[in-house]
Amino acid sequence: MSPRLFTFSAAHHGPWVVVNQTTVAGAPLPQASHLRIQAGAPASAPGPWSLRGITSNERYVERAEREALVSRQVGLGQAGHTCAALIPIRKSSAWWALTQDERRHVLEEQSQHIRLGMNYLPQIARRLHHCRDLSDNEPFDFLTWFEYAPRDTGLFEELLNALRGSPEWAYVERETDIRLVGG
Ligand code: HEM
Repeated sequence: MSPRLFTFSAAHHGPWVVVNQTTVAGAPLPQASHLRIQAGAPASAPGPWSLRGITSNERYVERAEREALVSRQVGLGQAGHTCAALIPIRKSSAWWALTQDERRHVLEEQSQHIRLGMNYLPQIARRLHHCRDLSDNEPFDFLTWFEYAPRDTGLFEELLNALRGSPEWAYVERETDIRLVGG
């Protein structure tokens, strides 16, 4: 069975080197120099912070969207995908007070998150981790992870700018953007 729990830890050494770390909203995370990603829960955290999340079933994707995503997306670990981004995100209580259909409406009908994101496949590989159901006091709701080739950095920025300007992001109250190289 493939693991669902992943731990992202700031470390003094590791396969991913942090090239930039920016606080986009809310409380900052202590600066990291390297990042380590482990499947499961490591026995001890090697550095100043450690974040965990689980992959899960989709909440919002409709059938036709899933088929389009599956036909275009590629997995993590592609040769040449030496750039990565870890973007932990916390949404506000106003978001979580919405019903499922209201959240879908903001995410897709108002913000075109899925339709927009689709245009960046297969160049950007991604994995979404959920944190909320792990405990009552996880610092973020989502750990988003992306891998891409250096030449596609501009594409990634373009997508991020579009999403950050969308109605969905009015509900983002904490966000840190960590860029890495390595793999
Ligand atoms: C690379 C292209 C992208 C595609 C194709 C894409 C697609 C998706 C899809 C389909 C979902 C919904 C999954 C579900 O049904 O539960 C989702 C959720 C999410 N995506 Fe993206 N995405 C992309 C890029 C991004 C970027 C750049 C960010 C910024 C950090 C981002 C942040 C998120 C977050 C936080 C969620 C969870 C939303 C929630 O459940 O409230 N995505 N994405």
